[in-house]
Amino acid sequence: MDDRTLLMKAAEARNHSYSPYSEYSVGAALLTKTGKVYTGCNVENAAFTPGNCAERTAVFKAVSEGESKFDAIAIIGGKHGTEGEPAWPCGVCRQVLNEFADNKTFRVITGTCGGEIKSLTLGELLPFAFGPENLS
Ligand code: THU
Repeated sequence: MDDRTLLMKAAEARNHSYSPYSEYSVGAALLTKTGKVYTGCNVENAAFTPGNCAERTAVFKAVSEGESKFDAIAIIGGKHGTEGEPAWPCGVCRQVLNEFADNKTFRVITGTCGGEIKSLTLGELLPFAFGPENLS
């Protein structure tokens, strides 16, 4: 699957964002090594801290359905009513992705559906990560 197609799936998922407090909606599309795509959006909460980012929604959906090996994630965000803009994952989401990805090859893709697309490896976004190997 090409990067723009994955980003389009993230944009579709963004339509389901539940974000009445920040009014910032995010969509993510996670590509598994088996070629499946799991999407996610941010889900906020009146108590604030229980809210979840789009990226982690996608990861948790996939892992809970037995998929835990991933190649890439595409992310798109923006204030309500705006077209999506490039959105890099927050630190917590980088850490969660690191748990299930080879950070040398796993790619984080962002951009706009019609415009320029950028990608970096997870290792570039989270150098010197703390991961499962630290506990083995
Ligand atoms: N958000 C994400 O979904 N992903 C990120 O990587 C950064 C932030 C969400 C959380 C919250 O619902 C809103 O964006 C504003 O922070």
